[in-house]
Amino acid sequence: MNALLETLHSRQSVPANQLTDPAPNEEQLNQILQCAITAPDHGKLRPWRFIVIRDEARHALADVFVKAAKIREPDISEQKLERLKEKPLRSPLIVVIVTTLTKDHPKAPEIEQTLSAGAATQLMQLGATALGFGSVWLSGANAYDETVKQALGIETKDQITGFLYLGTPPATPGPRKRPELSDHVSHWSAPVS
Ligand SMILES: Cc1cc2nc3c(=O)[nH]c(=O)nc-3n(C[C@H](O)[C@H](O)[C@H](O)COP(=O)(O)O)c2cc1C
Repeated sequence: MNALLETLHSRQSVPANQLTDPAPNEEQLNQILQCAITAPDHGKLRPWRFIVIRDEARHALADVFVKAAKIREPDISEQKLERLKEKPLRSPLIVVIVTTLTKDHPKAPEIEQTLSAGAATQLMQLGATALGFGSVWLSGANAYDETVKQALGIETKDQITGFLYLGTPPATPGPRKRPELSDHVSHWSAPVS
C-alpha cells in the first residue's frame, strides 16, 4: 500500500499516560503544526491557533486545572484534585488548539470555523503519526472552563477545541477495531420517497 495511505489507515490514539519522552522536538513540532495549517478553511479566516505547553509549563497548567476545579466544584475532594493535578503531566507535550471565532461571518458560520479547527487537530495527529509519535485529543471540563481559558490567554468568545497530548507511543500499541465501512456509507441517486 502507498506509505501515506498506510499512515492514514493505521493512525490510532494512544492513552495520554502511555505517551512518553521523547516528545517531538521543536523542528518536529513545527512539521506537525505545518500539517495543521493546511486545514480546510472557509473564507480564509485561519480560525485556529496553537498553544504549546511542555516541560515545567505542564506543572503550571496542572495548577490552573486545580484552581478551575475548585471554582467549578467548591467541595471537591483532595483525592480528585490530586488526580486532576496529574493530568497534564501524563505526556511530555501538550498543544492546546483554540478556535478563534469570527461572529456573523457572511459565508462561514461558527460551526464551520469550529470544524476547521477540528480538521487542524486531526491533521496534527496524522503528522505526529507520520513522524512516529503518538497523540490523543482530549477535552473534558477544562476545555469549557473560563478560568482555564483566561489563564491561557483565550478570549471568552473563543473555544478550546482540544488538548492534544503528544509523545512517544508504546512499541506495540493496543489493537483498535474500526467500524465497518458499510455501516457508514451509502450511495444516493434519487430522492427518498
Ligand atoms: C473533540 C473531541 C474531544 C475528545 N475528548 C476526549 C476526552 O476528553 N476523553 C477521551 O477519553 N477521549 C476523548 N476523545 C476521543 C479520543 O481523542 C479518541 O478519538 C478516542 O479515544 C478513539 O481513539 P482513536 O482516535 O484511535 O479512534 C475526544 C475526541 C474528540 C474528537
